[in-house]
Amino acid sequence: MKGIWKTIVCFAIVAGFIGSAYAQFARTDDAIKYRQSVMFLIGQHMGRMGAVVKGNQPYNREDFLRNAVLVETLSKLPWDSFLLAGSDKGQTQMKSEALENKGKFEVAAQNLETEMAKLVSAANSGDFNAIKAQFGAVGKSCKNCHSQFRSR
Ligand code: HEC
Repeated sequence: MKGIWKTIVCFAIVAGFIGSAYAQFARTDDAIKYRQSVMFLIGQHMGRMGAVVKGNQPYNREDFLRNAVLVETLSKLPWDSFLLAGSDKGQTQMKSEALENKGKFEVAAQNLETEMAKLVSAANSGDFNAIKAQFGAVGKSCKNCHSQFRSR
């Protein structure tokens, strides 16, 4: 009898480890914190570029490019953490629609990645008019997702 319980406990522990490895995030809270942290960073670096685009900060090609590359990299990170089952509950502003409509959410995410790649190209070229126009397109892709999937 004792032996069987040992086996069951061992199995449960191993299954637990495998489960968390597959899930990538041990808890839904971690996924929520992860995506909010990435979004926070994206917001900060978009804000720095926005100040330049609005003319509140001087334009410097290297600085602008560095911010654009950072946001491009960040924009590839968080999507798994958004689509984790159950992560629409808790300290989050994500609407349940994101999980009910994963395809639509992924399109909005892909749209940001595409627009960010174009912003990096514009930033690379140093053409300030092209940068301004493309920065606006990136901003639209943020709003497009927020208006569908973020509660306010
Ligand atoms: C594909 C969807 C999607 C895209 C694209 C997107 N966001 Fe978000 N964003 C969300 C969702 C959903 C939340 C709410 C996350 C939560 O509370 O769990 C969020 C939260 C945020 C937050 C709040 C983070 C915090 O501190 O809790 C900021 C800031 C933000 N986004 C900025 C941006 C900016 C800037 C862009 C564009 C460059 C952008 N987002 C693009 C879906 C998106």
